Amino acid sequence: MSYRVGIVGATGAVGQELIDLLYARNFPMESLTLLASSRSAGKTITRGDKSWTVELACPEAFDNLDIAIFSAGGSTSTDLCPEAAKRNCVAVDNSSAFRMDPNVPLVVPEINAEAVRGHQGIIANPNCSTAVALMGLWPLHELFGLKRFFASTYQAASGAGAAAMAELEDQVRSWVKGEPMKAEQFPHQLAFNLLPHVDKFFEDGYTKEEHKMLNESRKIMNLPELRASTTCVRVPVLRAHSIAINAEFERPVDVVKAREAISGFAGADLCDEPAENRYPMPIDFSGKEKCGVGRIRIDSALDNGLALWVVGDQLWKGAALNAVQIAEALVKLDAVAVSV
Ligand code: A2P
Repeated sequence: MSYRVGIVGATGAVGQELIDLLYARNFPMESLTLLASSRSAGKTITRGDKSWTVELACPEAFDNLDIAIFSAGGSTSTDLCPEAAKRNCVAVDNSSAFRMDPNVPLVVPEINAEAVRGHQGIIANPNCSTAVALMGLWPLHELFGLKRFFASTYQAASGAGAAAMAELEDQVRSWVKGEPMKAEQFPHQLAFNLLPHVDKFFEDGYTKEEHKMLNESRKIMNLPELRASTTCVRVPVLRAHSIAINAEFERPVDVVKAREAISGFAGADLCDEPAENRYPMPIDFSGKEKCGVGRIRIDSALDNGLALWVVGDQLWKGAALNAVQIAEALVKLDAVAVSV
């Protein structure tokens, strides 16, 4: 069986990766429809000998689709995911709009693929830093029982979209030429700088991104009592996020067993040979399906604690790849049809 697939936000940084990943992973497609706003409707997108005319993302666009993957921001998802679901097209949504809705599964297929069963037409794809962090934390949780964690993220420009990636490159060019830099995508210059600020600030002093890491981790791992304190930082890296994690577990920990668990986990690639200067770096894990996990050591400040470093491609595991994996889980579990 093959499916009529749509991408909403097809002209964006994640949308472009979605096109390539659907073909690279041989997703069973009868057709692919590329959707965006009126700014891009009518433009042509080509890949090899295939080309598409971008169409306007509007409710009727979902009439003849089975699966639509959304990566066009929260307000587009809020407006159009329910329209897709109403038309029996399952929406796999990259935005944060529906992630905490109790009727919407929030899925990282290596952890909770079964949660796609019984969806009501919308399935949420998690926050990028959360998805990457869990590629290190989940196998350790299975082994030792996760109690709480502290994390600092090093988040790439790609998390803010194609324009933000282009602006970082432009800023570097301007720096080299000694010209003034334009800084429109973030509140400050990103090149040769970093910003302890991802998404908006809440009254408790944390940012929305930091709240997402706690709340989404609880939902995905089904750990409602989990505690976490995170600091999310934007860094001048193009497309892979890195996360330093200190995690406390219920049971005594062991570094050798932790490394074995990471090695045996489908979403992770153990990269942990400090004596050889081998540890995960964003430059090596851009364009990689698995997330790199390394620097695993006994945490010196926590009981039953481990410190680790996880790196993953924000555009892939943090967004497009995880969304395609959700679509694959829908197919595998025969759960594409919308049942309300
Ligand atoms: P468009 O090219 O029409 O602006 P990025 O995350 O890289 O910034 O990309 C955002 C994506 O979301 C783009 O494909 C953009 O399309 C799309 N988009 C933004 N606003 C809307 C909207 N109101 N309706 C449909 N697509 C939208």
